[in-house]
Amino acid sequence: MRKKITVVGAGMVGGTTAQRLAERNYADVVLVDIVEGMPQGKGLDIMEAGPVYGYDTVVTGANSYEETAGSDIVVITSGMARKPGMSRDDLLYANMDIVRGVTQEIIKRSPDAILIIVSNPLDAMAQLAFEVSGFPKNRVIGMAGVLDSARFATFIAMELDVSVTDINAFVLGGHGDTMVPLSRYTTVAGVPITELLPADRVAALEDRARNGGAEIVGLLKTGSAYYAPSASVIAMVDAIVHDQKKILPCAVYLEGEYGVKGLFVGVPVKLGANGVESIFQIKLTEDEQAQLNRSAASVQELVDKMKSRA
Ligand code: NAI
Ligand code: 2OP
Repeated sequence: MRKKITVVGAGMVGGTTAQRLAERNYADVVLVDIVEGMPQGKGLDIMEAGPVYGYDTVVTGANSYEETAGSDIVVITSGMARKPGMSRDDLLYANMDIVRGVTQEIIKRSPDAILIIVSNPLDAMAQLAFEVSGFPKNRVIGMAGVLDSARFATFIAMELDVSVTDINAFVLGGHGDTMVPLSRYTTVAGVPITELLPADRVAALEDRARNGGAEIVGLLKTGSAYYAPSASVIAMVDAIVHDQKKILPCAVYLEGEYGVKGLFVGVPVKLGANGVESIFQIKLTEDEQAQLNRSAASVQELVDKMKSRA
């Protein structure tokens, strides 16, 4: 039987994710949004591309949750996106109510699903979905590290004039200004970039990766990135659907790994049919650990803010 994947939020990230999923042709898709007609319209439009592209994916648009029943994977993208001048954290209060409500609706009908959270602020929203759902920690995963690493890889490829496919980029930590690009473990054809570039260029590329989301917001002006974010969601869904056992950086619930306890933070994990199958632990230098601690502390601050309001 074909898999069933629900995407909640049919905006820029959700709509593009549904399109990319349809093109994958391995699952039927349910697209949910509160705006009447919009998910239905986008769903039909995506299906009408099927004869041209050569896929048979059924994409069902909906304004309620009946159609989502029995989903294998649910991608939550609903909520407000950033506008110029806004940080991801500014979205906290608006999006926490949305993500809480959506999660409650989803778990009633898809108790065995794997949840992939996209809404910002990412790590706090993943923590909220984890707590509201009561799902085991392997089935609630935040998407950020794949995107942040992809941005870092793009900038390195531009700098060195090499193919992005030769680059393995590594970013740890929360999806925010305190994220930790790990240059020592970021390689071009196996060679660390710290061996290929002077320290000031490495630092500049790390900085651009940290501000990669804001750079796009500044250019678009009306919202935030969606092509690379939806592609990053697909990398995670592929790993789960095809049981790839792929090592990808994802926001997951840590229970002491990397010195972090009881919090969602981005680290490399093995993704397969069961969701997060293990957490990859690598040795950090004192400075890298200190950066990760700072990043975890900023996620904790948001989680505390969220809890004091709930
Ligand atoms: P968007 O504004 O284009 O789409 C959001 C959609 O959510 C809208 O269509 C809206 O009607 C819908 N929505 C709002 N409340 C809802 C509810 N209760 N139930 C169902 N749908 C609801 O925004 P975009 O660009 O798609 O971004 C979505 C979210 O993803 C934002 O919070 C954004 O910050 C975040 N994001 C996270 C990334 C990451 O790396 N984790 C990357 C890119 C975006
Ligand atoms: C991004 O990094 C806004 O989180 C979103 O593009």
